[in-house]
Amino acid sequence: MSDVRIERHGSAEDATEALRADVREGLTAEPKWLPSKWFYDARGSELFERITGLPEYYPTRAEREVLTERAGAIARVTGAATLVELGSGSSEKTRALLDGLREHATLRQFVPLDVSASALSEAAETIARDYPRLQVHGVVGDFTANLDALPGHRPRLVAFLGGTIGNFLPAERAKFLRSTRDVLRAGEWLLLGTDLVKHPDTLVAAYDDASGVTGEFNRNVLHVLNARLGADFDPSGFDHVAHWDAESEWIEMRLRARAATTVRVPGADLEVSFAEGEHVRTEISAKFRRDGVRAELAEAGFAVRHLWTDAADRFAVSLCEAVP
Ligand code: SAH
Ligand code: TRP
Repeated sequence: MSDVRIERHGSAEDATEALRADVREGLTAEPKWLPSKWFYDARGSELFERITGLPEYYPTRAEREVLTERAGAIARVTGAATLVELGSGSSEKTRALLDGLREHATLRQFVPLDVSASALSEAAETIARDYPRLQVHGVVGDFTANLDALPGHRPRLVAFLGGTIGNFLPAERAKFLRSTRDVLRAGEWLLLGTDLVKHPDTLVAAYDDASGVTGEFNRNVLHVLNARLGADFDPSGFDHVAHWDAESEWIEMRLRARAATTVRVPGADLEVSFAEGEHVRTEISAKFRRDGVRAELAEAGFAVRHLWTDAADRFAVSLCEAVP
């Protein structure tokens, strides 16, 4: 018997209103930008899953290696009764953690949270089926807004994997870590995955693969605007760009207009012109150094009890305790 339930924070109308506001702000800015959470409709989540298996996209394999190796230690150190996963997607790697926690028999509940309703419900259902003793309580919601209402028996372990923390700008990142700390009591836990700074060629390849899946994923945000706001983007008129910003130490994903064009976005009551070669920034993916990770976590009220990396030192997973 599997035990699964899914709750939705906010209505579909609220989400469309948020999309409209973001599009009006981002596409009238100079330079233009779009927030990355709108990549993830059902097709976007599927494309992201394909990215995680690409030869160039090492972060998923590197993080899985760490989780598999350290799951037992994570279970022993935290004694977690609830595993909350933010931006859980397919929760594929999370199975390594669930296996470790199951062996130590402390875990009762799994709470995946994601904006993508399709990815969330599929993950919640398959995990409930494969871990029949676990209560699975999925939440369709926004991790920048819905953290205060997180369910769960204490102590809780909040996992934020995949390097998704790097998709925030530095000020947003500090705010996110602070609000995560605020929903925890001292003695509860955060498990944070951060991709590490490395040779730019390796980084750029991970975000601009030879088979073009990442480009398709990036352009998916235009399909989402077409579907949800009635926009008339021609996605094939935009090139995928992955640029390493050496000063900020982040990869910046952009869409570049191949020719001058004007796009109507009736759902946002907007008409937007693009010059030939003009960019829209769609996502950053910040890369970290160990000292920076520790300092940012300390600033937010977490003590890093362990910081593990894969054998090739590509990706770090930090186990952090909420401190008073
Ligand atoms: N944790 C998975 C997926 C990482 S991709 C992994 O490590 O492979 C980022 C995930 O975060 C996607 O599933 C996306 O739908 C989700 N996401 C992006 N922005 C979000 C937001 N604001 N609130 C909740 N989920 C979000
Ligand atoms: N969280 C992922 C990362 O930063 C998201 C991601 C992977 C992504 N590849 C991408 C976002 C390509 C935009 C374009 O690694």
